[in-house]
Amino acid sequence: MKQKAQRSTTTRTNMWGSRFATAADARLRAFNDSFRFDWRLLEQDIAGSIAWAEALGKAGVLSQREERRVVRALRELLDETSGKTLPLDAHEDVHSFVESALSQKVGALAKKLHTGRSRNDQVATDLRLWLADAALEAVSLLAPLAATLVALAKREAATPMPGYTHLKQAEPVTFGHWCLAYVEMLFRDADRLLSAYGRGDECPLGSGALAGSPVEIDREALASALGFARPSANSLDAVSDRDFAADYLYASTLLLGHLSRLAEDLIFFSSDEAAYVELPDAMATGSSRMPQKKNPDVLELVRGHAGRAIGETTGFLALLKGLPLAYDKDLQLDKEPLFRMRETLAAALPALEALVAGLTLNRDRMLAAASSDLLLATAVADALAARGIAFREAHEIVGRRIAEAIAKKTTLKQLGPGGGITAADLHALDPARSVAAKKSIGGTSPKRVRSAAVAAAKRANALATLIAKESRR
Ligand code: ARG
Repeated sequence: MKQKAQRSTTTRTNMWGSRFATAADARLRAFNDSFRFDWRLLEQDIAGSIAWAEALGKAGVLSQREERRVVRALRELLDETSGKTLPLDAHEDVHSFVESALSQKVGALAKKLHTGRSRNDQVATDLRLWLADAALEAVSLLAPLAATLVALAKREAATPMPGYTHLKQAEPVTFGHWCLAYVEMLFRDADRLLSAYGRGDECPLGSGALAGSPVEIDREALASALGFARPSANSLDAVSDRDFAADYLYASTLLLGHLSRLAEDLIFFSSDEAAYVELPDAMATGSSRMPQKKNPDVLELVRGHAGRAIGETTGFLALLKGLPLAYDKDLQLDKEPLFRMRETLAAALPALEALVAGLTLNRDRMLAAASSDLLLATAVADALAARGIAFREAHEIVGRRIAEAIAKKTTLKQLGPGGGITAADLHALDPARSVAAKKSIGGTSPKRVRSAAVAAAKRANALATLIAKESRR
C-alpha cells in the first residue's frame, strides 16, 4: 500500500500540502474525494471564484492586472469545460479542480485567489447558488402540470364522477373538482419551494473557514455580485448551515408525495375495474408476455420515487443532527441527495404532465358509476332534511331503505317511494343535481368549479411571471 500512496504523490498534490510527511493514501482518496459528484457545482464554483477575485481586487490583494487575468482565465475555464467530460479521478473536489486548472493558465497567481477564503465558505456559497436554480427549476416544472390540470378542470367542470372516502363510493364530485384539488397542493408546493429559495438567498462567501475573513471584503457588494439578497450574518453558522437544502428536500418530498397521490388516483381510475380514464399510449407501457396489457409505469414510478425521497430527506436531517460547529466533513454528503432530488423532479414532472394532458376520459362510465345509490343516498337524506326532517332521522330513514334494497337485490330507484321517502325525494337520485347542490365556497358545483378554475389560472400565470423574473437575476 505504501507504494500506492507514493504513486499518488506523483500524480497529484493535495490542497493541504506541506504539513504532511507522506502523500495521501489511495484508500483515503477513494473515500475522501468528492469530485465524482460535486463536479455538478463547477459553474457555481467558477462564478464564486470570479466574484471573489473581483472582491480581492477591490480590497487591493490582487492588482487590477492580476484580477483581470484571473477573471479572464476563469471565464475561459467555464467555456472550455462546458459540456466536456472532466477528469473525475484526478482531483479531490470541484474546488481543487478549479484551482489546478486556473494555475495551468495563470501559474503562481492562482495561489493568490485563495487569500481569505476557505473551501468551507466556498462550498456553502456554491451550494446556495445551485439550490436557487434547483428550487426555481422545480417550480417552473410543476407550473405546467398545474396549468394542465386547470385547463382540464375548466373543460370538465360539470363532469360527474364518484367521489371517495376510504376508497368507498361517497358522493359524486366533478372531474374538474378532482383536478383542482391537486392544483391546490401544487400551489402550496410552489410556495414551499420558493421559501426554500428565499431562505437560501444569503451569501456565505467571506466567512472564511469559520471565523470570518481577514481581508477587508465588501461583503454586501460581493453578495449582490453573485445575485444574493444579502451576506450571511454569522460566519460559524454560514459555513455549516444547510437548512435551505433541508427546506428544498422537504418541499420536494412533499411535492412528490402529492404527485404520488395523484398517481395512485390515476392508477385506480385507469384500472380495468374503474376505467374512468385511459392513459395515452405514448405514456403507458406494455407487457412482454401479456399482449392485452397497458401499464401505468409512469404513475408507479412517481409513487416509488416519493418513497425514496422520504428516505433521502430523513437521511439528510440525520446528517445535520449533532454536528459540532462549524464545518464538518459529514457535510460533504449533503450533495448527492440534492442532486438526485433535482434529477427526479426533472424527469417525473414533465412525464406526469404529458400523461395528464393526454388522458382520455370515459365520461359515460364516470356518470354511470356516479349514478349509483351508494353515492346518492346522502342526496336523498338531504332532500328529506330540506323538507324539515331532522338530518339524523333522515339518515336513518334512508339507511333502512338502503338495507331493504340491498336485501331485495335492487336499488332505491327501483324500490320507489315508501318507508318515509316520497317520489319527490327520489328526484335527488341524480348525480348532476347532487353536484349542483354543493354550492358552498370550495364545493363541487360546476359553477364553483368554473370560477375556481378561473382563479387558479390567474394564480398559475402569476407564478409563471414570478419564475421568469427570478430566473433572470
Ligand atoms: N468537498 C468538501 C465538501 O463538499 C469541500 C469543503 C472541504 N472543506 C474542508 N474543510 N475539508 O464539503
